[in-house]
Amino acid sequence: MIGTGYVGLVTGACFAEIGHDVICTDNDKSKIDTLEAGGLPIYEPGLEKVIEKARKQKKICFSANPADTIDGCEAIFICVGTPPLPSGDADLSAIDHVARVIASEAKSPKLVVEKSTVPARTGQELKRALTTYSRKTNVAFRVASNPEFLREGTAVGDFLHPDRVVVGVEDDTTEKQLREIYAPVLDRKFNCPIHSGSCPNGADPAWVVTTINSAELIKHASNSFLAMKISYANMVADLAERLGGDIGEIVRAMGLDPRIGPSFLSAGLGFGGFCFPKDLQAFVHLAERSGVDFTMLKEAEKINKHRIDRAFDKLREALWVVRGKRVGVLGLAFKPNTDDIRFAPAIDLVNRLLTEGMVVRAYDPEAMDRARVVLPHIEYAKTPYEAAEEAEALVIATEWDEFRKLDWDRVHEAMARPLVLDGRNLLSPRDMKTRGFEYRSFGRSD
Ligand code: UGA
Repeated sequence: MIGTGYVGLVTGACFAEIGHDVICTDNDKSKIDTLEAGGLPIYEPGLEKVIEKARKQKKICFSANPADTIDGCEAIFICVGTPPLPSGDADLSAIDHVARVIASEAKSPKLVVEKSTVPARTGQELKRALTTYSRKTNVAFRVASNPEFLREGTAVGDFLHPDRVVVGVEDDTTEKQLREIYAPVLDRKFNCPIHSGSCPNGADPAWVVTTINSAELIKHASNSFLAMKISYANMVADLAERLGGDIGEIVRAMGLDPRIGPSFLSAGLGFGGFCFPKDLQAFVHLAERSGVDFTMLKEAEKINKHRIDRAFDKLREALWVVRGKRVGVLGLAFKPNTDDIRFAPAIDLVNRLLTEGMVVRAYDPEAMDRARVVLPHIEYAKTPYEAAEEAEALVIATEWDEFRKLDWDRVHEAMARPLVLDGRNLLSPRDMKTRGFEYRSFGRSD
């Protein structure tokens, strides 16, 4: 594995779990030091246990020296970041750098697999780069694309129980090699560390073999479609709010149609994270450069940005004057069960509240250490109740289960004014009203 971000670590740990010998490298030595010392640079439920077991069984190891990783391996998975450039295009410099390192360290033929999310045709460029950089050694490389569909927070389970494993290949040997690597997952022959013997039933994962270009497009097209679904639900929520409908009732009925499906229709503050916003932008740019006008994706992005305005308008409407008022914020991560705050709607919202002169005290079960770096000037609470203390409004920005289960009477008692803006439609309007709250949410007749 090259790259020990969440994709590299989850993929490496799960490959070790299903029986492979894995070595992970990263050019960020501090990450390797943390991993070698038994720590984890990210928070991901279930991952620690899997890595610990693999480490004890000597199925996984970490090295800052790429030479250790590259020459002893038959297959090399590239899991480096492809962050957005100011233009919105994906920055592929890490992929190019890794191609150079692989080409200079490899002494025998290798299969090089793109796991990082990349625009279509990157595989072709990668192959060209490997060939160019290895012109003195003449080592042969095969290239494949194997996009990942892991969700942060449930990534280990997603890896071991996927709906599909997609491989973009150029020849049968590569397909066979990848099929062997994934065989325990495809044939469901492993001891699941997540469900301890009671894994959910369901269809076996589909093994989808495509061209490299198609595999790359499948990843961007899937993420962009899901992002579009969320923006669609958010627009329907706005309409339902004006016309007196209930978005929960609407999407529940919509989702019962198998052509639509129930997921990714939750309205509220919108989507964030390091995948949807950047993949959507990269896909739009790819389309533009290819002469295809994908305006509908731009709309999905615009709608998503406006969610913060919608949330703020709701607060202002309730509070009248906002400047100088204290607001508690529950949740900073871009979604629950992660400490990841990259492109988190919660962070955008806090910045907006600060710009409007509000005094913010925030709480998140896992993301506060990371948040302190980007939001050094707000107060951080040790508990959700402390965030609510003397606040004139409390905003739920991430749907952590912990918030659902709060003692809301205690929160009511702690607040200066019992106003709750539920940015994730986590709570029941009726229950909150019964408890005496002024309660606002999205797409529901509060
Ligand atoms: C997403 C995809 O779901 C994964 O399949 C993909 O592998 C991954 O990106 C990636 O490209 O690496 P992830 O970013 O972990 O996974 O998070 P999601 O669960 O997809 O949620 C993304 C955002 O959408 C979150 O901010 C979430 O709160 C928001 N969301 C999700 C909604 O606002 N409404 C919904 O109905 C669902």
